[in-house]
Amino acid sequence: MNSNKKFEDEIQFTELVKSPLRLFGWVYLLFIGVLLVTGIYFVKNLDSINYNESPQTLNDSLGLYEDKPLIKGGVMPSMDLGLIKNPTDELIAKGKEQYNTLCATCHGTNGDGEGIAGAALNPKPRNFLKMEGWTFGTKFIDLYKTLQEGIIKNGMSAYEYLPPEERTGIIHYVRTFADYPEITDQEVEQIDETYKISSGVTKPNQIPVAKAIKIISEETDDLVNKLNAEDYSNDPGAILLDKYSRAPQNVMLAVIENGVPNTLDEFIKSITSQPDSFGLKSSIIRLPREDHEVIYKFLKNINSKYSS
Ligand code: HEC
Repeated sequence: MNSNKKFEDEIQFTELVKSPLRLFGWVYLLFIGVLLVTGIYFVKNLDSINYNESPQTLNDSLGLYEDKPLIKGGVMPSMDLGLIKNPTDELIAKGKEQYNTLCATCHGTNGDGEGIAGAALNPKPRNFLKMEGWTFGTKFIDLYKTLQEGIIKNGMSAYEYLPPEERTGIIHYVRTFADYPEITDQEVEQIDETYKISSGVTKPNQIPVAKAIKIISEETDDLVNKLNAEDYSNDPGAILLDKYSRAPQNVMLAVIENGVPNTLDEFIKSITSQPDSFGLKSSIIRLPREDHEVIYKFLKNINSKYSS
């Protein structure tokens, strides 16, 4: 081969065998070509190659919502702390009676945890004859806590509505099934500190949100019915309101609920600065003061008539 020659006319394949490194330049081009083709293929099929394999799941927030139970408030009566260490026979007899009505279906009449209602539960209702494997414990205060809070997730409900004395009676009856730990003075003090049983506790009513909403909407319905029953068609204020609001009834309800500004000037100022937020059309801004006053008087009447 002539070494002075600058360019080779064609590939000398025989030379290639002797020095394979020369192939590299061509491999490089091939590589770019392949890359280009794959690139184009990828971009064209992007949708099917690169899709989201695990579809997003959204939790239904409505399903997660759990309302509060309706609890009637009142005063939880106080109790003589002495009964915890020295229960009377009547107290235990009353406890037995309540145990048999409230607890025996699950825990068994003889306390062995084999009651019919508990058969399907897992874990099974506690066997009161055995001292092992308790969740909260076997001390008096532990049983008191169980009745106060329940072990809801395991099917043991709370009996917090039972007055302290009745709870004490039931617990003492349960304690007759086996040898339970002795009650210490310290424990009694601790119970009183935690559950305030010697002073009595006042509990407020608790209304479930759903029920509260229902009550409110029933009240509103009532009001709407009353408003509907009235004939305002001759009242100039009502006529103007009808013309300048999107839903006159809502304006009236809002006024009954929230009141009316004290003076005409305040009223005009608020409705003309934000007619929208009162459910009024913005054209109300252009009304003369006298018309504003007519509407104001009408709404004031409505408010004094229906607002409680
Ligand atoms: C619907 C069935 C059911 C009823 C009714 C029931 N229980 Fe239970 N109870 C259970 C279950 C289930 C457990 C086991 C919970 C656990 O292992 O966490 C349990 C556990 C207990 C425990 C043991 C708590 C601990 O620390 O392990 C006590 C004490 C108890 N119940 C007392 C009562 C009393 C007193 C009554 C009646 C006022 C009652 N239970 C009514 C189902 C019931």
